[in-house]
Amino acid sequence: MCGIIGYTGSRQVRDILIDGLLKLEYRGYDSAGIAIHNGSLRVIKSPGKVSKLVELLPPNLDSTTGIAHTRWATHGEPSEINAHPHTSGSGKLVMVHNGIIENAPAIESYLVEKGYSFISETDTEVLLNLIDNEYELCGGDLLSAMLKSFEKIEGSYALAIIEKGRPGRITICRKDSPLIMGIDDTGYFVASDIYAVSDYTGRFIFPENNDIIIADRELGLKAYDGNGKEKELKISSFTARKKNPDRTGYNHFMEKEIYEQPHIISELANSILFINGQSACGNSLAEIIQRIRRITILGCGTSWHAGLIGKYLIEKHVRIPVNVEYASEFRYRDPVIDPEDLVISISQSGETADTIAANRLALEAGAITLGILNVKNSTLDRDTHFQIYLEAGDEIGVASTKAYTAQIVQLSRLTALLAGIKGNGSTIGDISSALKNISGSMQQVLAGAEKISALASKYAFTNNFLFLGRGLNFPTALEGALKLKEISYIHAEGYPGAEMKHGPIALIDFNFPTLVVLTDSESRPKMISNIKEIKARRGRVIAIINENDESAEQLVDDVIKVPSVPDIVSPLISVMPLQLFAYYVALLRGCNVDQPRNLAKSVTVE
Ligand code: G6P
Repeated sequence: MCGIIGYTGSRQVRDILIDGLLKLEYRGYDSAGIAIHNGSLRVIKSPGKVSKLVELLPPNLDSTTGIAHTRWATHGEPSEINAHPHTSGSGKLVMVHNGIIENAPAIESYLVEKGYSFISETDTEVLLNLIDNEYELCGGDLLSAMLKSFEKIEGSYALAIIEKGRPGRITICRKDSPLIMGIDDTGYFVASDIYAVSDYTGRFIFPENNDIIIADRELGLKAYDGNGKEKELKISSFTARKKNPDRTGYNHFMEKEIYEQPHIISELANSILFINGQSACGNSLAEIIQRIRRITILGCGTSWHAGLIGKYLIEKHVRIPVNVEYASEFRYRDPVIDPEDLVISISQSGETADTIAANRLALEAGAITLGILNVKNSTLDRDTHFQIYLEAGDEIGVASTKAYTAQIVQLSRLTALLAGIKGNGSTIGDISSALKNISGSMQQVLAGAEKISALASKYAFTNNFLFLGRGLNFPTALEGALKLKEISYIHAEGYPGAEMKHGPIALIDFNFPTLVVLTDSESRPKMISNIKEIKARRGRVIAIINENDESAEQLVDDVIKVPSVPDIVSPLISVMPLQLFAYYVALLRGCNVDQPRNLAKSVTVE
């Protein structure tokens, strides 16, 4: 789960690599390194963030060829030794890698017999030395060495290699891990995503699985398929939007992103829902909806929570059965999927490895695929028939906030659209008028931030938390618990209210508080019973309640009051205090809010 950047050409490479690494830090930030070629190979690496690596770099590296990497550890702890780039046993090859080599232990034993020893604990060094061994056997032909090595490898990889004997050359390959190339008049860029290089060029190549591309400053580009057969490369030209990592006026990106929500939601609610793309059969989504029999929603983390809300909405208002699946489970459980399925992949980044793979499985089974995505030109953007964009702007904080509410809005609007196609016109009006009025209520929640901050100080040093919700706000409970876990490292579990009696209630005592989402009218009476059950066991309860719900206020220890809105949009309002609560708790506990330990913004390995 890592970011790769590289360049060869006539420009100085130092700043291209650093700038690219900073843009790719969302893929991992536990260590970083660069390798350059300036007559000989030179590698500089460091544990920690890219900024730490930069401190180690001389201001002038004087090189026009280099590769670099920001890491999220899979094999071996974050350390200088385990950081990429890695150097091969012969010292002739240096490589960066994203992905996992699943049969690394067996390959390592095979290489040890051949006399190789290993410095790091990484699977990358194993793959590199396998290539190195073949490279030596075939007289320094990297293409042949890679082809031979990949026959023995199980797993996924995106990699870039530079060679001691070929100063102006980078060779890349990818299998089930994203890697793109950019081209300009000065040379060739390689990166995990286009935004790492889109400041320099608008011409891109998207290699297919198993493609090997040699980018040589003198000789140009050569591409080969997985059998070593030379192939033509398709160059796509477009201008990619620039990333905007600016948080002026805010202490953290997460804070900024929480505060951006009313504006983003209002813009979405007052715009037309665009569905981009083309189906495989040339039909529009409206025609397809008439014949599909089932919808499957795929996602991970917060995006999966948004998917659950999508299920509740679509089943209720469109009457099409909806499954919501963790992409990681879906891809390996041999699911029944066919051309009468619509598969919706929800992903902020469009780069989550499991969601990409699950979506591909659905494509192969003939399903129509729709991506609900924030990042345009991401892998899932290219891999889906239709796309709905979140238009939420860059989300930099690792814990998703504004992408989540934008996902809910786009799923609500999709529900309205599908309901209209299916002849349930009243839903369209209900959803669109509720959404049009929601932004003021969201502002009101933000206006109460100080009270939430005060409440956070009362509970900040609790070790455990239970979050309960029902119906449309069961996913809110899951999301509230996830936020608290992610950024403040407090153990928190989200449960549907009634399920509490099947286990979690055993944990309840004074030191194990419960946060109850009590905002939707339909489930309110049942949730009140749940609160009473907790209070009967001396549990403390914080409730998110509608502003005039005095009777609920009497029952609980603390309340966070939010404006009353129609149930259909209540998850948009009730999640905001939970985002703020997690944010303030994390601050009080001294945690790194935007880049929490062990996490990454985008999980690019399975
Ligand atoms: C990571 C992030 C989460 C995110 C999840 C899915 O775990 O830390 O914030 O919800 O990945 O990411 P995606 O980009 O697919 O929505």
